[in-house]
Amino acid sequence: MKKIAVLTSGGDAPGMNAALRSVVRTGISKGMEVYGIRHGFEGLLDGEIEKMEWHSVGEIIHRGGTILRTARSKRFYEDEWQIKGVNILKIFGIEGLVIIGGDGSLRGGLEMSKHGMTVMGLPGTIDNDLGYTDYTIGFDTAVNTVLNLISNIRDTSSSHERATVIEVMGRRCGDIALYAGLAGGADAILIPEIELDMNRLCTEMLKGQSAGKGHSLILKAEGVAINTDELVRTLEEITGRETRAVVLGHIQRGGSPTQQDRVLASITAAKAVQLLYDDAPSKAVGICQGEVVAYDLAEALEMKRDYDSHMYELAETLC
Ligand code: F6P
Repeated sequence: MKKIAVLTSGGDAPGMNAALRSVVRTGISKGMEVYGIRHGFEGLLDGEIEKMEWHSVGEIIHRGGTILRTARSKRFYEDEWQIKGVNILKIFGIEGLVIIGGDGSLRGGLEMSKHGMTVMGLPGTIDNDLGYTDYTIGFDTAVNTVLNLISNIRDTSSSHERATVIEVMGRRCGDIALYAGLAGGADAILIPEIELDMNRLCTEMLKGQSAGKGHSLILKAEGVAINTDELVRTLEEITGRETRAVVLGHIQRGGSPTQQDRVLASITAAKAVQLLYDDAPSKAVGICQGEVVAYDLAEALEMKRDYDSHMYELAETLC
């Protein structure tokens, strides 16, 4: 393959720029022409495609977000637009596409592959919710950001002897809550994969209070089936302890990527380009037990992800 393109799609994630840099520079060093598509699938449909040079991706490895910009494209769910996207790439003579994004973005890529484009998917999302890879690009940075914020919240929570519910991102996957909760010493971790047992939560909090716990931190993923304000009201009512809510929101999606995310982004992107160079069929590239892996794109997206129950039990034991 001589001409390839790259786009970032869906929610931005720290490390997307490092992945882009690696795609562009690995491609150029193999003698390929690399094109950047701005604004994800939306930009593709609008023909926002430009050739990238070695220097186009200078000074970005440390930057969060994505210099290509990103978008969530509604129209790209439809066949008609997916075919149009493939045709636009073909007009440019582009034979392969690297997509850096989460589940929805890689599914968009899968549809393009059915319409005749070779697609390599890279797992770019803070959510860590893709079944085929142990870690996604951006997850480690998001967890570290949340950890720093937990430390700040801990100061004020302990000073006022309050309970604080900290809501983090994660609609279907509670990994941000689980990892940050374990590493941040949370008193309870609520994730969408485990049905909320309000009685148990309140009993544990009351037990802690009678054992002399001065304050509590509860990490809650956004996908847990209870509204955070409602949770706060119920906890306050039952435990009698003043309770506050902090919704971290998009703060956790920005920031300079950690070493782990930069390395993960760089090595998976290089693998994706190598696969295109070798004319391999469409794949999803990720990391499993420290090794870079590449699975058939359709099969990768069928792989189910479950939370780490040992980690969850350990967090419960330690709180
Ligand atoms: O990037 C994934 C994610 O962070 C989810 O956890 C969250 O629900 C969603 O994006 C919010 O994204 P936006 O506000 O950009 O639509």
